[in-house]
Amino acid sequence: DLGGVKVNREDVVRDDPTNNVPDNIFSKLGVQLHRRDQHPLGILKNAIYEYFDTNYSNKYNKFDDLSPIVSVKENFDDVLVPEDHVSRSYNDTYYVDPQTVLRCHTSAHQAELLRSGYTHFLVTGDVYRRDSIDSTHYPVFHQMEGFRVFAPEEWEASELDGTSFAAADLKKCLEGLARHLFGSVEMRWVDTYFPFTNPSFELEIYFKEKWLEVLGCGVTEQEILRKNGKPNNVAWAFGLGLERLAMVLFDIPDIRLFWSNDERFTSQFSEGQLGVKFKPFSKYPPCYKDISFWINESFTENNLCELVRGIAGDLVEEVQLIDNFTNKKGMTSHCYRIAYRSMERSLTDDEINDLQWKVRDQVQSKLNVVLR
Ligand code: PHE
Repeated sequence: DLGGVKVNREDVVRDDPTNNVPDNIFSKLGVQLHRRDQHPLGILKNAIYEYFDTNYSNKYNKFDDLSPIVSVKENFDDVLVPEDHVSRSYNDTYYVDPQTVLRCHTSAHQAELLRSGYTHFLVTGDVYRRDSIDSTHYPVFHQMEGFRVFAPEEWEASELDGTSFAAADLKKCLEGLARHLFGSVEMRWVDTYFPFTNPSFELEIYFKEKWLEVLGCGVTEQEILRKNGKPNNVAWAFGLGLERLAMVLFDIPDIRLFWSNDERFTSQFSEGQLGVKFKPFSKYPPCYKDISFWINESFTENNLCELVRGIAGDLVEEVQLIDNFTNKKGMTSHCYRIAYRSMERSLTDDEINDLQWKVRDQVQSKLNVVLR
């Protein structure tokens, strides 16, 4: 039951070239970690709600139960993603069929909510992206979208034009949010590009000697407002990655932990307690296995990562390209190092060897590469 919609496995996972949703991804649909008040993601969502409720007198409408199965139109066309943008590819996005995807961002709901007349809203949900594997990337994660529409009177009363007014308000709002969540923290704005906003910015915060990107935002493209019943207004939008923020706030070292049902993880968090530092139960050792093969034109790292994830599930911690060369005949060889590690227990040699043999086997049979 997803946002009130019942989904059958056969409707989402099919052996059909226009479908690339594997079983391990299907199994995440409907889990809705962000709706658990005792889970770090739910605790963070509620803390952000609290910021908006107290500073904007409960004006924001909140949605956290919209179905992640959306149309290509909602996910891409409605937010002006160009026809040839990489994010539309089967390599980057999960397609249920040629017209239907698992949303790759919560921006997929902007247009529909605007048309329904909402002017202040927050949309939280699970989003899906095919990607590489490391401690901060997982093919399912959670975002919160914020959106605010201004009426002409609001910027006409200021010295600014509509766009500058919205940009200034957006930055003030998000800086306040960052302080609400982190206390005093160093932050900086970086100019960037999104198809649906102009100007566009990223907010980075300084954490453990590194600048960490925590959200994307900007002033909404006029075309989106015009097409959705708000031709005379201006608006801003932001999209924030909940895992990124929660890893910093709760000291969670690996993104796979959010999915853990191990009580030693879940019992460390309680409703309303933002920023309680996670105490690792123990660090189990990683085990590294290398695999080398000659690639072909259709090889992609995302396909390899998905294959490994399909075999090893959450026991895979990282897949890293460690060698890459092309020989005189023009053949290209890749060597990947796979790190296996459980967050919950020690793995046995037999178990890891077994996984690695399956990986070797399927890499040949499914990706058609030649092992070296
Ligand atoms: N949808 C963007 C992403 O997922 C984030 C974003 C949302 C940027 C809203 C600007 C405005 O990366």
